[in-house]
Amino acid sequence: MSAELVCFDPKCRARYPITEVIYNCPRCGALLETDYPDWRYDPAALKRLWRERRMSNSALDQSGVWRYRECISFLDGYDRVVSLREGNTPLLDAPRAADYAGLDRLTFKHQGFNPSGSFKDNGMTCGVAQALRLGMTRVACVSTGNTSASMAAYASAAGLQPVVFIPHGNISYGKLAQALEYGARTLQVEANFDQILALVRALAERLGIYLLNSINPFRIEGQKTIIIEMMDQRDWRAPAWIVLPGGNLGNTSAFGKALRELNRLGLIDRMPRLAVIQAAGSAPFYRLARAPEGATLEPVTNPETLATAIRIGDPVSWPKALHEVRCSNGVVEQVTEQEIADAKAQIGLCGIGCEPASAATLAGIRKLRAAGVIRAGEDVVAVLTGNLLKDPDYIYRYHTGQLTAPDGGKIEPTFGNHPTVVPNDADRIAEILSA
Ligand code: F0G
Repeated sequence: MSAELVCFDPKCRARYPITEVIYNCPRCGALLETDYPDWRYDPAALKRLWRERRMSNSALDQSGVWRYRECISFLDGYDRVVSLREGNTPLLDAPRAADYAGLDRLTFKHQGFNPSGSFKDNGMTCGVAQALRLGMTRVACVSTGNTSASMAAYASAAGLQPVVFIPHGNISYGKLAQALEYGARTLQVEANFDQILALVRALAERLGIYLLNSINPFRIEGQKTIIIEMMDQRDWRAPAWIVLPGGNLGNTSAFGKALRELNRLGLIDRMPRLAVIQAAGSAPFYRLARAPEGATLEPVTNPETLATAIRIGDPVSWPKALHEVRCSNGVVEQVTEQEIADAKAQIGLCGIGCEPASAATLAGIRKLRAAGVIRAGEDVVAVLTGNLLKDPDYIYRYHTGQLTAPDGGKIEPTFGNHPTVVPNDADRIAEILSA
């Protein structure tokens, strides 16, 4: 099965061997993607094969990424793949959140059920597999926390040395703790995500370290399986909308590529619309989507949001993401800190929970619903990207009325749930509970 790297720029489209260690097109500097010129599949046979693999005990088949390996066929063989049983994340009905958003029905695809608690695991198993294939010994990433947690886990599991670069003081403790526990060499840089990414891109080549940020096209291949698995779980009925948070925009790129490929292979018969939601303090892509045709992304130099996972002002994958939003007739929306916090509490009240960035989805749906962009009866799937326990500090502050927005404004605990201190006294406790 042949696979190649191709320049994403339609004016260039230069092709390179799949084993070349490049992250951008050497000819024009644009992003790269993988391409599979030989794909000839019978869609019905593929669907059957993937269903059968769910009953298999092999690690490869049990992975919710490698189960779909026909659609991510960039390796020559699979014996060195390291799987922590990533993917296999549930579709959850959330009537209460649907009500909050003004929809008849809403489903969450919860990527927080992944082994390291975020959607990054889908891509990381692929990125690490490519690193092993290339004979790399050290891998690195810049991260707002989840990529570093995931990379640390997969690299250590594969016997590679993980080196993570994180913005000092601006990632949640849960995520930092994961990087430490999984054995990553952890550098807390006194700069923001965008500045560190520029630094590390230069350093990676100098130090011979393989870069596993989402500019790495193999990460994108793995993240495609979030969509493939979602369609499989829905018996290949495409929803009207797929809603996701946007930060560095790798996931938007992956989802769009997956949808185009599934459509081309005849596995789905219509394209869902992508709705990308950004935090208002870090929303350069939202602004780009409103700019005239041909505009380029204007970075936000000091991005701010308590949803630190998406605190990114200069998202590298914007050209791909813009293409995917356009191809899917999609939209980009922005939401405030208060909207994110309240939506997050509503997702909690469904018994589901997620981290702040993930809750931007529900806040965005509510806004798009109010504006009449999404209709009440439409079939909507929102992707919750990270687990509730990634950022417990945020949760405690919200429920106790101590959460403050980056601009100093107080976040109202609209759905606050303040814990009560009680004496060690049965009568008094009974009295409090009957009030
Ligand atoms: N949600 C969560 C929980 C994330 O961690 C991220 C990105 C996103 C959404 C946005 O995804 O970048 O593909 O648009 N986190 C990266 C990280 C940047 O370093 O962990 P994106």
